[in-house]
Amino acid sequence: MSKLVKFLALLLPGFLVACSDAETESHPYGFGMQVSEQVIAKWDIDIGPDGAGLPEGSGTAEIGEPIYLAKCAFCHGEFGEGMGRFPDFVGTPEELLSDFATKNVGSYWPYATTLWDYIYRAMPFGNAQSLTADEVYSITAYILSLNNIIAEDAVMDAKSLPEVKMPNRDGFIVASGTDINASICMKNCVKEVVVTSKASESRVSLAEKEEAKNTGDIQ
Ligand code: HEC
Repeated sequence: MSKLVKFLALLLPGFLVACSDAETESHPYGFGMQVSEQVIAKWDIDIGPDGAGLPEGSGTAEIGEPIYLAKCAFCHGEFGEGMGRFPDFVGTPEELLSDFATKNVGSYWPYATTLWDYIYRAMPFGNAQSLTADEVYSITAYILSLNNIIAEDAVMDAKSLPEVKMPNRDGFIVASGTDINASICMKNCVKEVVVTSKASESRVSLAEKEEAKNTGDIQ
């Protein structure tokens, strides 16, 4: 205990004892504040793959289309085709076999509930968390219908959305390969490294893809 605190402790013993009792109960680390259930609820918005956490509300693609056109299309395209470097939403898992595949909602995402979570949490870009639950159900339905995953009049809600089977749901495998099971090598570990391909050959950057298109290397 510092000299100053000792001095204050002599002068104000009652005050210090009263503070320290309350402090250790609510602030075991000596800082921070009590947070109400309502405040926590505002942060607790994650949706599980199984739909856990989805709120009440509902929507259809028909209702979602005009909302999407007003709030999303100028970045993501009217039909989810993407604009410039803003992501597209439409594709099929078969496209992932291409060297130039885009991992998007239609081609890659395994759960429709993640789409709800993402839109509610982060979109529209620059005005996140401004949408109501009904609007998010409707826009989610619109994006799913653009991918022909659900019908335009299919009602999406906390029960039906988790039941939507995304095209790439079975495209994921549980990783049990060497990376996970390998024991760590501490000596004599250097093995010959064989380079099988280079990123530049796959033309991973947009500029490289563009160049490949211009030179007629790809369609
Ligand atoms: C001002 C431009 C802009 C607007 C408007 C906008 N977005 Fe986005 N959106 C982005 C950007 C940028 C990203 C990529 C963010 C990142 O990767 O961190 C993105 C990502 C997404 C993704 C994830 C795509 C993926 O495959 O990773 C979804 C889904 C999405 N937006 C939906 C929407 C919806 C729905 C709306 C309308 C409610 C919307 N966005 C409005 C710019 C925008």
